Amino acid sequence: MIHITRRERFNAAHRLFRPDFDDEQNYKVFGKCSNPNWHGHNYELFVTVAGEIDSDTGFLLNLKSLSKLIKSKVIVKLDHRNINLEVDFMKGKLASTENLAVGIWNELEDHIKELGAELHCVKVVESENNYVEYFGIS
Ligand code: NI
Repeated sequence: MIHITRRERFNAAHRLFRPDFDDEQNYKVFGKCSNPNWHGHNYELFVTVAGEIDSDTGFLLNLKSLSKLIKSKVIVKLDHRNINLEVDFMKGKLASTENLAVGIWNELEDHIKELGAELHCVKVVESENNYVEYFGIS
């Protein structure tokens, strides 16, 4: 078993808040990410897949195919979008990095199987100091 990771990037806006809280309560819980007028992050997404080396190619899988898949299933939906308002797989969820990682996992998992690999980890980097890793339900 070997792992390989593809990095993609996207910029997106979001707001962390609960509609049943006022702005002050939201600020207490969610900090600057609760700004009522939105704000953006330059996110980095690392998708790690697992599998065996194909003896014909020496590759686990074609990274170009993986990149195309991530772009078509996830990046087009997120890049330059408002995560709260415009991203179908985040509808009704708090726009946290944790929920984003789980949402991205669910978008990709089956398609990565079609490429002959297993999804191993979705890592979403929100800022220099904060990132989330999701390894699926275990
Ligand atoms: Ni934020």
